[in-house]
Amino acid sequence: MGIFRNLQSVIRFRKPEFSRSRRRFDRAANIDDLRAIAQRRLPGGIFDYIDGAAQDEWSARNNVAAYSRIELRPRILRDVSVIDTSTMLLEKKTPLPFILAPTGFSRIAHSQGELAVARTADKFGLVYCHSTLATRSIEEVAAVSSGEQWFQVYMWRDRGMLRDILQRLRACGYTALALTVDTAVLGRRERDVRRGFTLPPKIGLDTIVDGIRHPSWTWDFIRNEPITFANVATDSRGSGGSAVSLSTYINEQFDPSITWDAVEWLQAEWNGPLFIKGIQDTQDAVIAAKMGVAGIMVSNHGGRQLDGSPAPIDLIEPIAQLVQGQLTIICEGGIRRGSDIFKALALGADICAIGRAHFYGLGAAGEQGVVRAIEMLQDELTRTMALSGVRTISEITRDLVRTAR
Ligand SMILES: Cc1cc2nc3c(=O)[nH]c(=O)nc-3n(C[C@H](O)[C@H](O)[C@H](O)COP(=O)(O)O)c2cc1C
Repeated sequence: MGIFRNLQSVIRFRKPEFSRSRRRFDRAANIDDLRAIAQRRLPGGIFDYIDGAAQDEWSARNNVAAYSRIELRPRILRDVSVIDTSTMLLEKKTPLPFILAPTGFSRIAHSQGELAVARTADKFGLVYCHSTLATRSIEEVAAVSSGEQWFQVYMWRDRGMLRDILQRLRACGYTALALTVDTAVLGRRERDVRRGFTLPPKIGLDTIVDGIRHPSWTWDFIRNEPITFANVATDSRGSGGSAVSLSTYINEQFDPSITWDAVEWLQAEWNGPLFIKGIQDTQDAVIAAKMGVAGIMVSNHGGRQLDGSPAPIDLIEPIAQLVQGQLTIICEGGIRRGSDIFKALALGADICAIGRAHFYGLGAAGEQGVVRAIEMLQDELTRTMALSGVRTISEITRDLVRTAR
């Protein structure tokens, strides 16, 4: 009887969970686990579109690896009973020091796509930057979220189309614009080349076989309306109704001849906060500051454009030394841990942006997965702050990290 009572006091049966994928999701401990779940749930070509990068994918790997070369230098015995992760972004308070970066074609991972991401950002009070190449429109995203929305643009050959977009953004209350400047031509994503990947995916025999092997994704995909480039649906060529390769679309639609004049043009047309997305050099950061833009996203497009380009985190300190205080510095690329965000802030970033981290969540479990990804980063950041002896974002200072150089 005594033994039985002793056993009873230590044994706790969990409610049985019969779905294996649900069990895996419930036990996911970090962003890499969400990535692994997304890899199981998604057909190979879809996962590769999200996970892949340009050519040898060195930059994509280096973006992540660069964080592990930075050491934390914790301070102890400081009262960390209350941690505040909020910070200011464009003179408004945001509860966490990161935003959700634009990712095109999100419905390829889950039918809710950008709506799931926008709703989650709203739930946490974070900024979501909606992509030009999104599969839900400017209006649809605005309708599901009362939170703050930014929009990412490319410079179209047809400036009239861009003017129309700006008009729609203003009507829907989008507050800032990010001009992506690292995509003069599309980076060569060799995983996509090998698979003959198109947007939307073409249905061939290999797609059908892959679909049968990934029933949950396939069921979600076929039950919902076809995927299109929702923001440019008025454009007949390449609206996404017919399958085109991303590089064909970009080469036809976007203007590779643009220079800093285009930034000036956009500043005048938009007349609101403008960010330059894709700064990869200190001198370009200085030019951006001189032009009076609101901010820069130090980014190599998650390694998807120029393979061999530097890890954004390695550029933050030199850029901050030159331009800090003149504009907002956003660090994005390779962030998979809350401690990565801590390191970027310590080196001089004002805030960070996450791309794949939330996209893996979307691919793993739709909206629930995006929520989970943000919770993980929030928890990790809070823990890193507590264990480093800081209570507020402004207390995250340079002396709390050590770099090789
Ligand atoms: C699947 C995918 C689609 C993306 N689509 C866009 C896009 O439409 N426009 C854009 O400016 N950046 C796009 N990006 C780049 C992200 O905005 C961001 O720069 C990048 O994901 C940051 O790196 P990380 O994924 O390591 O966080 C995309 C990234 C991924 C992974």
